[in-house]
Amino acid sequence: MDFVSEMKAKAKSMRKRLVLPEGTEPRTVKAAQILIKEQLAVSVTLLGKVTDIQKVAENEGVDLNNINIVSPHADANLNKYAHEYYELRKHKGMTEEQAKIDITDPLRWGAMMVHLDAADAMVAGAENTTGDVLRAGLAIIGTVPGLKTASSCFVMANLDPRWGADGALIFSDCAVIPDPTAEQLADIAESAAQSCREFLGAEPVVALMSFSTKGSAKHDDVTKVQTAVGLLKGKNPGFVFDGELQADAALVPSVTDKKAPGSPVRGKVNTLIFPDLGSGNIGYKLVQRLGKAEAFGPFLQGFAKPISDLSRGASVDDIVTTAAVTLSRAK
Ligand code: ACO
Repeated sequence: MDFVSEMKAKAKSMRKRLVLPEGTEPRTVKAAQILIKEQLAVSVTLLGKVTDIQKVAENEGVDLNNINIVSPHADANLNKYAHEYYELRKHKGMTEEQAKIDITDPLRWGAMMVHLDAADAMVAGAENTTGDVLRAGLAIIGTVPGLKTASSCFVMANLDPRWGADGALIFSDCAVIPDPTAEQLADIAESAAQSCREFLGAEPVVALMSFSTKGSAKHDDVTKVQTAVGLLKGKNPGFVFDGELQADAALVPSVTDKKAPGSPVRGKVNTLIFPDLGSGNIGYKLVQRLGKAEAFGPFLQGFAKPISDLSRGASVDDIVTTAAVTLSRAK
């Protein structure tokens, strides 16, 4: 089975609840219908004014039966959600009055539904920027206990089966943190290891990459990766990892033997950690275009509950797939 079919089968078996904050966005409304029809979610909630959503549904020929609609301004939970938002943000100067206004923003409302267990997962970004989706998630859902950093990964699939887990690897972070600190890099590695378990069904073997292998070059960017590896060692995170490694030293056993003899990841790497967003974003696109791999993502990781961002160019199918992947991560 391929990655998308596997994630859909998993989502279907889990029967989780999805909130789609962009409830008046036509592709999102169409996706909601498919998600219910294919039973990928047990419930789907669209956020927005009822009449606006009905108008879009009518234009798109979508039957809204079995799809929930919540209008934050008029919802019975407004005071409860506003108060919780105030509690979460008062250390940043949030007032009760402002919280009541801010929480009606659909991204924040959707994140609050997930935070308060009124939904299991949220998907947005068909009309909002990545930054706005991330900020709503960070302010309300927050990160997994023990991690301070939210980041992202791609599943790179259909490579030669000798690479990674039968031709599939996790690449991280390729979409969120432009210039991670050593602490953030260590968090990215931990989150990516978890993504490897959930998406590839494999025990993670993680390489923290650099343009240097085991001190072959000296530079602040190398020191950063070395420090991240040291932090991970201190945490004993429960997966095999090594660094700093050049990409060939990470992937090709004969090169590992020359540059990093005795490395515990030799010949087994299935999770690649890039030292910054530039190398991660360029790296996944090179492998996708030149290596003819399939790239699925970006999927957000490190959040306490599952949320996903969409490309604003996402198709209806993309939204359905991202929703299935996100729902498959719900607990
Ligand atoms: N993990 C955890 N917390 C974070 C993170 C993170 N990655 N980034 C910021 N925060 C926290 C901040 O500490 C802050 O906390 P506070 O409000 O409690 O003080 C809060 O989140 C908001 O921080 P801001 O300063 O408003 O946000 P910032 O300017 O740092 O931007 C953001 C963070 C939105 C994640 C930014 O890094 C971003 O836009 N990244 C996306 C990059 C991008 O455009 N990617 C898309 C192209 S790549 C592709 O799609 C394939």
